[in-house]
Amino acid sequence: MRRPLIAGNWKMYKTPAEAVDFVQRFAPLVAGIADRDIMIAPAFPALAAVAAALKGTSVGLGAQDVFWEAEGAFTGQVAPRMLVACGCRYAIIGHSERRQYFGETDAGVCRKIQSAVAAGLIPVMCVGETEAEREAGQTFPVLDKQIQNGLEGLIADQLTALVIAYEPVWAIGTGKTATAGQAQEAHQFIRSRVAERFGPALPGALRILYGGSVKPENISELMAMADIDGALVGGASLKPDSFAGIVKFK
Ligand code: PGA
Repeated sequence: MRRPLIAGNWKMYKTPAEAVDFVQRFAPLVAGIADRDIMIAPAFPALAAVAAALKGTSVGLGAQDVFWEAEGAFTGQVAPRMLVACGCRYAIIGHSERRQYFGETDAGVCRKIQSAVAAGLIPVMCVGETEAEREAGQTFPVLDKQIQNGLEGLIADQLTALVIAYEPVWAIGTGKTATAGQAQEAHQFIRSRVAERFGPALPGALRILYGGSVKPENISELMAMADIDGALVGGASLKPDSFAGIVKFK
């Protein structure tokens, strides 16, 4: 059995003080939960304060992006070891908003995964098709390309902790969730492609999260699917009650 992971992606919301306030209200709501992993990914400036506030809880800390170099003249970038030093265990890589607005490419995603893994971070690699690609029947080829290129040159031993998030772009922040059936079909495809590329051991352990308008009301139906191992949650992770409601799916 794969251990579920419920991850919150706070995007460009919350100052350090607002983030700490969330943690103080959220942590008691999920105290004692031991059968699933929880992660929150605040914006960079809030990481250190959130790490301190999470001490003594089982909630893991993640970053929303990472750069591939260890240090150097790269204005505005943040290195994997800086994230580790801030207490991060995870790094989201290749989110569709980074692909769409900031020119993130599969090749860049691949370099970021390599450097995150080398620094001991768990990469949460995001993939997903746009609405136009789905309507053109291109969902599987698009996912295939993102997976093959994003994991190029990596070997199974580097990816034992890898998490993939399937986030159909048309479902992100739109209130339009993929049906459990649509999500399951994509997750199964992703797992089978990883199996073809890396052999059967890795996909057995690989956690594939669904992302795109996940709410307390739809999480249980999604989690009932065989290949859905958790969720990457945007909007509904910003309020302690709604995120706790998702974490506590039945
Ligand atoms: P959403 O965002 O839950 O607000 O749709 C998900 C994501 O972008 O990770």
